[in-house]
Amino acid sequence: MSKKTSSEILREQRAKSQLGGGEKRIQAQHERGKLTARERIDLLLDNGSFRETDAFVTHRTQDFGLDERKYLGDSVVTGWGTIDGRLVYVFSQDFTVFGGSLGEAHAQKIVKIMDMALKNGAPLIGLNDSGGARIQEGVVSLGGYADIFLRNTLASGVVPQISVIMGPCAGGAVYSPAITDFIFMVKKSSYMFITGPEVVKTVTHEDVSFEDLGGAMVHADTSGVCHVAADSEAEALARLRELFSYLPQNNMEDPPRRQTEDDPLRRDEMLDRIIPDDPSKPYDIKDVICSVVDDRKFFEIHKDFAGNIVVGFARLDGRPVGIVANQPAVLAGALDIDSSKKGGRFVRFCDAFNFPIITFVDVPGFLPGVDQEHGGVITSGAKLLYAYCEATVPKLTVITRKAYGGAYDVMSSKHIRADFNVAWPGAEIAVMGPDGAVNIIFRKELAEADDPLRKKEELVADYREKFANPYIAASHGYIDDVIEPSETRPRLINALQMLENKRDSNPPKKHGNIPL
Ligand code: HXC
Repeated sequence: MSKKTSSEILREQRAKSQLGGGEKRIQAQHERGKLTARERIDLLLDNGSFRETDAFVTHRTQDFGLDERKYLGDSVVTGWGTIDGRLVYVFSQDFTVFGGSLGEAHAQKIVKIMDMALKNGAPLIGLNDSGGARIQEGVVSLGGYADIFLRNTLASGVVPQISVIMGPCAGGAVYSPAITDFIFMVKKSSYMFITGPEVVKTVTHEDVSFEDLGGAMVHADTSGVCHVAADSEAEALARLRELFSYLPQNNMEDPPRRQTEDDPLRRDEMLDRIIPDDPSKPYDIKDVICSVVDDRKFFEIHKDFAGNIVVGFARLDGRPVGIVANQPAVLAGALDIDSSKKGGRFVRFCDAFNFPIITFVDVPGFLPGVDQEHGGVITSGAKLLYAYCEATVPKLTVITRKAYGGAYDVMSSKHIRADFNVAWPGAEIAVMGPDGAVNIIFRKELAEADDPLRKKEELVADYREKFANPYIAASHGYIDDVIEPSETRPRLINALQMLENKRDSNPPKKHGNIPL
């Protein structure tokens, strides 16, 4: 038999590496309704753009018979490729090899591409599907995780980092995704938790399923750990590509602009009628957002969590912006613990990656309640306040209706360095709503009135006319202008152009101490 040529050996080795844990395990993965690590990469990246690194790496463990079981590439596929022609680094854990578990070799492969992503200023995407630390490798695999956590932290705010959870993600392994900027999860086939249902049962005697403890929906609507929950793996990857279109490669670049057919001067008369006559009636702030932005396209982050604030990405005259908006249709738009955390983290992402922040304000204040106070709404509210205060990107604020109390200050007010603040003509900017204010400042008069109800109505009307309007704030220069709702889009676009070359900075320091 003739000797194999070196090229034949290479092709053979590569084919072996491509098979991961082998046909049977690939079939088992498919039977679970899951794609393989490589199929996921193919869906994520532009056709044919993937260049693999370390396809021939193997583990070096001798214990527990592992020396007999080596797979080329070990349990993760790593490399780079493009999304819409733009460079990204990717790792994709291969469940067909030792359940995607992470040992020394697996960690070193990830660390290598993380270092490349940081050095070359390109985003990092991690596709997670792993049984966690490779048990046979012991503390070496814990060390490998820590090497990754450190790099996630050093890369934070330098290159965007996105995690997609497509299978198990348990124990300390959850902390790499948790440090990254966005977590996507796939409904019914992915879960994240620190300790699984069995440990929970032993320690707290609670009976809970994998899905109810750490499934995609639990993290999307209850814990807030997950930013985007998708129905399928293909949908998660398609949504990720969509999110990617808004992001810059790194913190030194502006987010990429895109040509739009949507007229920058377009007005929308619907906005002149959107605020109900009764100030306690809700409307949907997303109707306002969609009306104002290019092509009504809004990529919402954290859609199912803390609905009283809405955050996400959109474009104005082709320029990507971050949107933060109180949602009067949920809890009357009041700020609370969860919405403050959600808003604060988003504002910091925008500031780190040069997104102008557009804030729509309709907020009656912070949510009252024992739960809120005891849960630390003071610290949480301070996160949002701190995030807005330290942000130096262009900040544009539109007060659509209420801006009351501390929440007025927090929501990108002039006082905390917002650049362009306007209000719609029906806006009420005051220390508190007319009802509460009248109860406090006219307590005596109300108690002594022959007809307290009528008296209150008169006083409320009087207060609303005197204080609950935008003109007092305007007279102090706290808002720059009162605008017609229908002209919001052209005015915002014009202000963005005016702020094109904005430069602002914070005092030099090692880092601030955000109220965590
Ligand atoms: C080594 C592992 C593994 C692990 C799975 N496998 N997890 N090998 N280390 N952590 C192997 C299995 O032995 C099996 O190999 C193959 O992967 C597929 O696993 P199955 O159990 O057959 O699959 P499934 O039934 O789908 O269950 C998946 C699973 C389960 C839920 C992930 O395997 C599991 O519970 N694994 C252990 C999870 C765990 O406790 N990990 C440590 C967490 S602590 P064969 O050859 O039989 O097919 C941790 C700390 C991180 O991760 C700390 C960071 C700081």
